[in-house]
Amino acid sequence: MTNGDTTEPLLAAHQLVKAHGRTPALRGASVELRAGEILAVTGASGSGKSTLLHCLAGIVRPDGGSVTYAGQRLDRLPEKRLSELRRTDFGVVFQFGQLIPELTALDNVALPLMLAGAGRAEARARAAEWLERFGVLGQEDLRPGEMSGGQAQRAALARALVTGPKAVFADEPTGALDSLAGEQVMTALAHTAREAGTAVLLVTHDAQVAAYADREIQLRDGVVAPAEVTA
Ligand SMILES: Nc1ncnc2c1ncn2[C@@H]1O[C@H](COP(=O)(O)OP(=O)(O)OP(=O)(O)O)[C@@H](O)[C@H]1O
Ligand SMILES: [Mg+2]
Repeated sequence: MTNGDTTEPLLAAHQLVKAHGRTPALRGASVELRAGEILAVTGASGSGKSTLLHCLAGIVRPDGGSVTYAGQRLDRLPEKRLSELRRTDFGVVFQFGQLIPELTALDNVALPLMLAGAGRAEARARAAEWLERFGVLGQEDLRPGEMSGGQAQRAALARALVTGPKAVFADEPTGALDSLAGEQVMTALAHTAREAGTAVLLVTHDAQVAAYADREIQLRDGVVAPAEVTA
């Protein structure tokens, strides 16, 4: 929808620097994300995509630079306020799963709603709607260990979106999906961005997936590559 420069970005990172031990992961990466916008982040393995996503989502604090969300400095928020804000405003799909193994798909998706105060029946009903949107409603009673990788990935997406977050951070959300399921997931994500004005940061290796984005940036060795190489 809108990626015009007239709207204020919802989320902006400026000159992010982050090392894991002695390995530099980000070396001055800057990025902006607007409400309703899907931004694809591509780049080679090890270029810093997941680290960037974690810094923007307030999961990892950068060593240098700033992250501003809705006018406030995320990188300076005390831990308690940061985790509260992550719970109310953000949805995250991690690159390597993170569903709770003891809970069924339905309860995994219902959990964030219950943490936000919804009753169990209502939470489960809304969770079922999201599972249906991602085409895994038939698997709602399975635990993560009993699901295929692609089913678990779709349940993780449903869980990230069920609370109606303002921003969604998805790290390779279609990595375990065939092209049909990938399309289904991307259509649902794009629909959410359009309808609810959700900002979506999408890390992907797949050009077909990146094609759903309004804009694409490419990371190279921890910085954003010049624009002419992006789509
Ligand atoms: N927990 C960690 N400990 C040590 N080094 C790490 C850690 N996480 C990431 N790195 C290093 O930081 C750099 C960036 O990693 P990152 O995970 O952000 O890359 P990526 O672009 O997401 O890669 P991929 O496409 O393989 O997921 C890499 O050199 C990686 O080896
Ligand atoms: Mg990664």
